[in-house]
Amino acid sequence: MTRQILVTSALPYANGSIHLGHLVEYIQTDIWVRFQKMRGHDCRYMCADDTHGTAIMLRAEKEGITPETLIQRVWDEHTADFAGFHIGFDHYYSTHSEENRQLASKIYLALKDAGLIEVKTIAQMFDPVKNLFLPDRFIKGECPKCGAADQYGDNCEVCGATYSPTELKNPVSAVSGATPVHKDSEHYFFKLGEAEAFLREWTTSGTLQSEAANKMQEWFASGLSNWDISRDAPYFGFEIPGAPGKYFYVWLDAPVGYMASFAKYAKDTGLDFDAWWGKDAKTELVHFIGKDILYFHALFWPAMLKYSGHRLPTAVYAHGFLTVNGQKMSKSRGTFITARSYLDAGLNPEWLRYYFAAKLNGSMEDIDLSLDDFVARVNSDLVGKFINIASRTAGFIHKNFDGKLAEGVANLELIGEFQAAAEAIACHYEARDYGRALREIMALADRANQYVADEKPWELAKKPKAVYRLHEVCTVALNCFRLLTLYLKPVLPKLAAEVEAFLAIDPLSWADAQTLFIRQRINAYSHLMTRIDPKAIDTMIDANKQNLEPAPAPAPTRHAEAQAHAAQPVVAAAPVGETISIDDFAKIDLRIARIANAEHVEGADKLLRLTLDLGELGTRQVFAGIKSAYAPEALVGRLTVMVANLAPRKMKFGMSEGMVLAASGDAPGLFILSPDAGAQPGMKVK
Ligand code: MSP
Ligand code: ZN
Repeated sequence: MTRQILVTSALPYANGSIHLGHLVEYIQTDIWVRFQKMRGHDCRYMCADDTHGTAIMLRAEKEGITPETLIQRVWDEHTADFAGFHIGFDHYYSTHSEENRQLASKIYLALKDAGLIEVKTIAQMFDPVKNLFLPDRFIKGECPKCGAADQYGDNCEVCGATYSPTELKNPVSAVSGATPVHKDSEHYFFKLGEAEAFLREWTTSGTLQSEAANKMQEWFASGLSNWDISRDAPYFGFEIPGAPGKYFYVWLDAPVGYMASFAKYAKDTGLDFDAWWGKDAKTELVHFIGKDILYFHALFWPAMLKYSGHRLPTAVYAHGFLTVNGQKMSKSRGTFITARSYLDAGLNPEWLRYYFAAKLNGSMEDIDLSLDDFVARVNSDLVGKFINIASRTAGFIHKNFDGKLAEGVANLELIGEFQAAAEAIACHYEARDYGRALREIMALADRANQYVADEKPWELAKKPKAVYRLHEVCTVALNCFRLLTLYLKPVLPKLAAEVEAFLAIDPLSWADAQTLFIRQRINAYSHLMTRIDPKAIDTMIDANKQNLEPAPAPAPTRHAEAQAHAAQPVVAAAPVGETISIDDFAKIDLRIARIANAEHVEGADKLLRLTLDLGELGTRQVFAGIKSAYAPEALVGRLTVMVANLAPRKMKFGMSEGMVLAASGDAPGLFILSPDAGAQPGMKVK
């Protein structure tokens, strides 16, 4: 049966660049959509830029342009970045559209008619210089719990406390520097509490992953509060019908953007809107999101849909967050990697698609991009295993058989095994367990390589009597290669298209797994994919360090960008002997560290594992090659000097997050440095 499936990814904010964290989501969704299409389903992939809010308004103002100009420019950038990674949206729109205005207003009015909107006067922080109510992230002050300076209005990065901005001590507006005042204003609220019974039922009805459903229980336990859906002018967004000067809060019209993107697409392509969004729609509606926005998609959004007479989502799939080299993406480490910098460094987008797919398993766990592992994995799986099958066999078909495959194959065992795997692999894709799908596919690739290694076509080619065998072996190998291409196609759409051209076949769909590839003529093989050059990775990391602006503007969103802390740029150390400027030296972050723990590393004869305490900066694990000179017990408790901003390195035994300094020369011995008495962990050495 053909399924009709409307799929969405979260709408990225129009005030920042697409980065590799975002791409986890768009790549995850795109693979699923491509897979569904290959299965013959009627699947439509909708997305848009999320364009409203104070942050975008202020950024446009700072740049001296209108918000409309800004969001158009960002739309151009985002769509180019997505195209660069082969994200195949069927429609990519903007929340700042007439369709969205109308749908958001209609939904709001329906909620109002259902008695679910209430108006209340509340006090909020107001910037008297800018005449602007300040969102939490635009207020800074001292933490009410621990007193740390320079904390944002909703949580403290030092002690982790969460609070309301009115509790901050000595608050200042991050926009004007003025002291905010409390000011009353009428706000519009969606009475979410009244949807509780419905939401309790809906969230446990199988639409959510079990981890997400459990999270819901915590939210229900702490009670559903009413949701503030209005903001006062000036605000870049849609004015609320019947409420002059009041605007829909960006998160009210953002999810409606899914619908609006589809509405425009339906108009352009002649689809029936109600068959996809009406109360009785039989189609599927599937949302892919990050775990940070589950609240909006599992509570507000279904409640909005339900009480405005629309269909409900069939599934909401949340994924985890991306870390790079085991740590949160960081601007100072150059691991806050933009999509553009990846492409500009000459890295192939399908390498990243493959790597993310290999790491994704359909759960909400975070996924790590370990750059060394990325290089090793892609080179070994894609080039070493997959491409290798064609590069070792296709040439013989050309040279010896005029480009034509054998008329048939006597031994169908191996091909049969490949064909039999089709359904299991499909199940893993369907369940978003791409890691498992790729493991099965690579196990098949291993089988095919083993077959080629056993049959040795290069030796058969030397024996005139073995000509039929040679033809058969190469035909079998290319059948395997074609099936591997088919199975990898959701992940590697461009490479698959190139293989299709090389094999001179129609675009592969899932049903083609059951056909045999014989008698046909193929084109000459030319190399399909190169290995990753690790130098390109360094280029990319450097580019992201250089992107750093010296004085960061107030954090624009409460998401990833807000979490990355800005720090000084870092450059690679100059070779020995060359002079460096004082600025170069300043880029090396030397710190006093207390050796909190030191221990032997099993299987390493030079290394000790050190846990270094940097005071307020936290602790680091460092593997130091000082085992020959120090017993671990002798080190614990003493102070030393470390390079704190060295890019973390993945070693056989774990991550090494820095380096301790030690002297050595021609004479035997190794001597770690110690500061004079009085130095404290975390102090800067300069
Ligand atoms: N604009 C909202 C979504 C509105 S949907 C109606 C938003 N935008 S975002 O640009 O911050 O994020 C877009 C998507 O990317 C979200 O699903 C978010 O979870 C995801 N990611 C952003 N940073 C991420 C990582 N570092 N890792 C994985 N996903 C991340 O939220
Ligand atoms: Zn605090």
